[in-house]
Amino acid sequence: MKQQLTIALSKGRILKETLPLLAAADIVPAEDIFSSRKLIFDTNHDHIKLVVIRATDVPTYVEYGGADMGVAGKDVLMEHGGAGLYEPLDLEIAKCRLMVAGMRDAVPVEGRMKVATKFVNLTREYFARQGCQVDIIKLYGAMELAPIMGLADRIVDIVDTGNTLRANGLEPMQHIADISSRLVVGQPSMKMKHALIQPILDQLQLAIDVRR
Ligand code: ADP
Ligand code: PRP
Ligand code: MG
Repeated sequence: MKQQLTIALSKGRILKETLPLLAAADIVPAEDIFSSRKLIFDTNHDHIKLVVIRATDVPTYVEYGGADMGVAGKDVLMEHGGAGLYEPLDLEIAKCRLMVAGMRDAVPVEGRMKVATKFVNLTREYFARQGCQVDIIKLYGAMELAPIMGLADRIVDIVDTGNTLRANGLEPMQHIADISSRLVVGQPSMKMKHALIQPILDQLQLAIDVRR
């Protein structure tokens, strides 16, 4: 029997941009993902399936072999850590920046700074590298609200157009990293299913090059 391959896709804002890249590698879901409540989808290939999950769960599925490969934002990958994962391709979609932000004209903070974010690990590492001890407050969304309500002095979040910061009286302060979505492959899968995976990587790379 032919080896099976499972690809984990982030639902949410990356999915729309991911599907044309997969199509360029001749992988097309058998039905419309957006109008379905299914979590697992057949494709035009009997041996390839797609699972559609929360962005933050993609590296977990791939790390533990629940999926052979996946698509996730670099922010999510930095936060998760790279254990057990190869990151062979920058898909160059969902480009944005990971930034420290605070209220416009905020005065310097005396003592320990409070930083609200959903990216607690990478935030801790970033400030530690700066030699700065901070208290991190874990939130799950709408980080921009935290400084307004006095919950935190700063936030660490994704910035694209800057509209969300501006609309809430905040400004970007420090650039942590440029972000885009990446293809990740589980290390055992890369070894055991190389013949299946490598042609997909090659076709995706061609599709990325064509877009440049
Ligand atoms: P979540 O619900 O976890 O925030 P999203 O679907 O909003 O998931 O985001 C998925 C990925 O898209 C993020 O990990 C990030 O890489 C990227 N992203 C998030 N916000 C933006 C944005 N405003 N512009 C471009 N890319 C973004
Ligand atoms: C993301 C991010 C920022 C906003 C940045 O939020 O967390 O709030 O987009 O984009 P901008 O600079 O173009 O305004 P999202 O809409 O994904 O909301 P959520 O993740 O909190 O659900
Ligand atoms: Mg989001």
